[in-house]
Amino acid sequence: MIRVQPKLTSPLQAGSLPTRVPRLIAIGGGKGGVGKTFVTTNVAITLARMGHRVVAMDADLDGANLHTCLGVANPEISLADFVAGRVNEPAKLLIQTRESNLQLIAGTHSNLHQPQPDKTRRVELLRGLRRLDTDYVLIDLGAGSQPAALDYFLVANEGLLIMRPEPTSVENAYSFLRAAFYRRLRLAARGHGVRELVEEATDQRNEKGIRTPHDLMREIEAISPVEGRRLMHTMRAFRPRVVVNEARTAADIKLGFAVVSVCEKFFGFKADYLGYVNYQNEARESVSAREPLCDYKADSDAARYLSRIAAKLAGVPLSRRGEP
Ligand SMILES: Nc1ncnc2c1ncn2[C@@H]1O[C@H](COP(=O)(O)OP(=O)(O)O)[C@@H](O)[C@H]1O
Ligand SMILES: [Mg+2]
Repeated sequence: MIRVQPKLTSPLQAGSLPTRVPRLIAIGGGKGGVGKTFVTTNVAITLARMGHRVVAMDADLDGANLHTCLGVANPEISLADFVAGRVNEPAKLLIQTRESNLQLIAGTHSNLHQPQPDKTRRVELLRGLRRLDTDYVLIDLGAGSQPAALDYFLVANEGLLIMRPEPTSVENAYSFLRAAFYRRLRLAARGHGVRELVEEATDQRNEKGIRTPHDLMREIEAISPVEGRRLMHTMRAFRPRVVVNEARTAADIKLGFAVVSVCEKFFGFKADYLGYVNYQNEARESVSAREPLCDYKADSDAARYLSRIAAKLAGVPLSRRGEP
């Protein structure tokens, strides 16, 4: 019997393809000024120094400043070029930073407001990001709960929710989570009447009295147990990771645990407490000096906590367990 051998790809050809799909990590939080860019900068550099290849992308097109924090003064190309259709491949947006393993996709290269990519363009962008030959893509989100920010957060492998221990930040973080949760449900809902129910529930003053995602899931189950179970399964994959930044007291540190239990009780999904970063005077100085804190004050507590967060994201076991 003659066997037909399958045509093998030459090892050279195979070697020229990216060996794995990068892990996408979105850094959001709903509110401006809570430390999203600060965390992105220091975690990106720490991961790069651990030997991983990292791309940091600035998705904050209203107030792009990640490039400054990474020491790139005047980016010559940026995401704005992709949005405008001048560049079609995210790989062409990469800018080498001072760090050998770290590349940047800048937000804008002028100070003008740039629109977010529309839905189709966002899908193309995300597809391009997943094709990048790198280990991690960190996406620094802007403030607010616009669809673009929610989509990056939802499609990423990890969604980090940065909050400061103050009521306004906590409130915005919950609104962001709630909006992300409903968006994900709306995209996943198929059953008759279920999508409409999700739409209705997004209005907090809806007549059905649906106030929390938990209430909503109960309502869905009531009209369609099969769809309810399916969506419950989908939502289990939604696992935001909370970071408390600028912690000053023990109560601030405990905030992360409180948020995790609120998510479970009222939202019906699990969140993780990834860690906290203390308030560090030198953080502001480091931004003014255009140097990351992990260099400006390498032996500071905040630098240590940031590298602990990076290690957790990279799956490095920590020696001390049982703390965020
Ligand atoms: N742990 C911290 N301690 C002290 N200042 C901080 C800390 N984290 C961030 N900051 C300061 O807060 C300001 C806003 O942070 P930024 O990362 O730009 O916020 P966002 O990206 O969420 O808008 C920055 O000037 C930064 O230096
Ligand atoms: Mg920012």
